[in-house]
Parts: sequence; structure tokens; C-alpha cells
Amino acid sequence: MMRQEDALQMAEIALEAFPTMQPPTNYQREFRNPLAHYIVALDRPSIPSAGGSGLALYMVGYAGFWLLAGEAHIVDVAVRDAYRRQGIGELLIACTIDLALAFNASQATLEVRASNQQALSLYNKYGFQEQGRRRRYYVDNNEDAIIMTLEDLKCADFVKRFEELKKALAVRRGFTLYPPVR
Ligand SMILES: CC(C)(COP(=O)(O)OP(=O)(O)OC[C@H]1O[C@@H](n2cnc3c(N)ncnc32)[C@H](O)[C@@H]1OP(=O)(O)O)[C@@H](O)C(=O)NCCC(=O)NCCS
Repeated sequence: MMRQEDALQMAEIALEAFPTMQPPTNYQREFRNPLAHYIVALDRPSIPSAGGSGLALYMVGYAGFWLLAGEAHIVDVAVRDAYRRQGIGELLIACTIDLALAFNASQATLEVRASNQQALSLYNKYGFQEQGRRRRYYVDNNEDAIIMTLEDLKCADFVKRFEELKKALAVRRGFTLYPPVR
């Protein structure tokens, strides 16, 4: 269950990751949106919480998608600057695909700035392909959005490749990935 503190941390991460986004996403409203699903990455507890009764969790990244007519529309993937290049973005995308599959989605789609090489590289790695462009979609700099799609999440070739990618991620980064509940 997402809480108000989670919305605040997500807003903080979004400000860092999408500084020109106007208006900023209202995450509290997103939590009430029945179509929206969010996954968060938390750092190991290291800072004692104010009450001293537990340990504060620090959100380092999140990903979200809307489930519409069997399609997962990925709306955000973001990792705090200080935590990038450690496999967290990839973990979030892998978990997003797993969760989309658990909801029986058969496709995943997203939009990404044409200049966003980091994100394009991540999505290409997971098999997303360019489907088209929305010209001058981003009003801050008139940049195009590239529409990317993973056409068939359930096809045997994708499932095999996806499992290999997750295994490689777990080995390389020392993550423990549990089998998804389907
Ligand atoms: C895109 C983003 C989520 C990647 O997160 P990350 O935790 O740094 O990424 P990872 O360490 O998991 O890297 C996974 C893959 O992403 C790509 N990637 C990440 N950073 C990259 C960089 N600086 N240059 C090129 N490719 C990069 C690579 O394909 C990488 O795979 P590899 O390690 O095998 O090369 C992060 O850069 C971010 O939050 N950016 C700002 C928000 C954003 O643009 N989100 C996407 C909106 S559509």
C-alpha cells in the first residue's frame, strides 16, 4: 500500500529525473487510479527512523504503468542520480514486465525522448522496438517522442530472452530475483 511519504519521495525523484516536466505528476492521485501500478526500489535501511522503533526506507527509484485493454503503458521509470548505473533501472523494467505479465498484459508500450540515450538503450536491451514518433511532443524543447512497443510479451522467444536477461542481471548485480506470481 503506497503512502503519502511514498508520493513525496517519488515526487523528489521525478524532479531530479524529469526536471522540465510540467505539470509534475500528482502521485497521490496516481495511487488512487485503479489503472495505475507502481514498483519502487528501496535502499537497505541505514538511517534510524525518527521514532527509533524501526528503520527508515529510502526510495531510490520507481517505475509505473497503466494497464489498459491488455496493454501496459509504462508512464515513468526513474532512478536517483546517485544510484544510477547499478542495475536499478533495469531491475525496475524487469519487475514491471513481470508485473504486467502477472496482470495478463500481452503488450507493453512507452514514449521516450529521442535524445534519451540511456533510456533508449535500456528499452532496446529488453526488446522494445520503435513503432513511430510523435513530432515535437515535448513542449519544453520541441523534441520528438519515440513510441516503443514490446509487441508480444507472451511469445516463447520473448519469454526465453526475458528469463536470460533477468538471470544475467541477477548474477552481474548480485540481486535475488524471486519467481513472479502469475
Ligand atoms: C534511464 C534510467 C532509468 C536508467 O537507470 P539506471 O539504474 O542508471 O540503469 P541501469 O544501471 O539499470 O542500466 C540498465 C541499462 O540502461 C542503459 N543505460 C543506463 N545508463 C546508461 C548510460 N549512461 N549510457 C548508456 N546506456 C545506459 C544500458 O542499456 C544499461 O545496460 P548495461 O548496463 O548492460 O549497459 C536512468 O538513467 C534515469 O532515471 N534517467 C532519468 C529518467 C528517465 O529518462 N527515464 C526514462 C523515461 S522514458
